[in-house]
Amino acid sequence: MSPSLRRPSIIPDYRQSGLQPVPKPWRDFPLKGMLLDADTIRARLETLASEIQEQTEDGPLLMVGILSGASVFMADLIRQIRGELEVTYIGVSSYRSGITSGSLAWTLPLQVDIKHRRVMIVDDILDTGRTLEMVTTHLESLGPASVKRCVLLQKHRESLHQEGDAPTIQAEHVGFLIPDTFVVGYGLDMDGQMRQLPFIGSVLLPES
Ligand code: IMP
Ligand code: MG
Repeated sequence: MSPSLRRPSIIPDYRQSGLQPVPKPWRDFPLKGMLLDADTIRARLETLASEIQEQTEDGPLLMVGILSGASVFMADLIRQIRGELEVTYIGVSSYRSGITSGSLAWTLPLQVDIKHRRVMIVDDILDTGRTLEMVTTHLESLGPASVKRCVLLQKHRESLHQEGDAPTIQAEHVGFLIPDTFVVGYGLDMDGQMRQLPFIGSVLLPES
């Protein structure tokens, strides 16, 4: 493994990036444009996978994906990690309607014993941080050896930072920093729709 990967890599920052045109087969979807194309995601996953693979050198990892958003990301990520790992999922729903976040509820309990195990939580996006915080607190109460987090996207919400309400939870591994905009695709949804897009797109909202 490259010594340069001993520390988490610099996170690609897309907060100021413009949108690209939506690829042809997907033009009927209600999108403003494409923020991250499939090749860019694939290339970044190689680096994230290397970072996580390094962690497996100290012992096997239990990857815990948060359903349903992390499913596509998890599937691609684990296929690039050659270290020893196991995969399981936990279900948390924020019962949001459209883009408004609501209360959190467990939709699928953890199926495996994580006592003394090295856990890596995997989620699609860190927004307010409430989901990752709730899952981290729950898993830590079950006696694991350690709990770390990996997210594909971290959204920068200027308003939360201004109100002193920035996420208190951090992810050790982050794919991309993105602007405060609602995104879909690559597992992320709006009202259950558009998870199947092979890229990350910015949604066309009625008011935008
Ligand atoms: P948080 O609890 O506010 O950090 O939100 C995390 C969860 O909200 C993620 O697991 C997503 O399911 C959902 N979410 C937050 N922002 C977006 C978005 O832009 N698109 C789709 N889902 C999102
Ligand atoms: Mg989710």
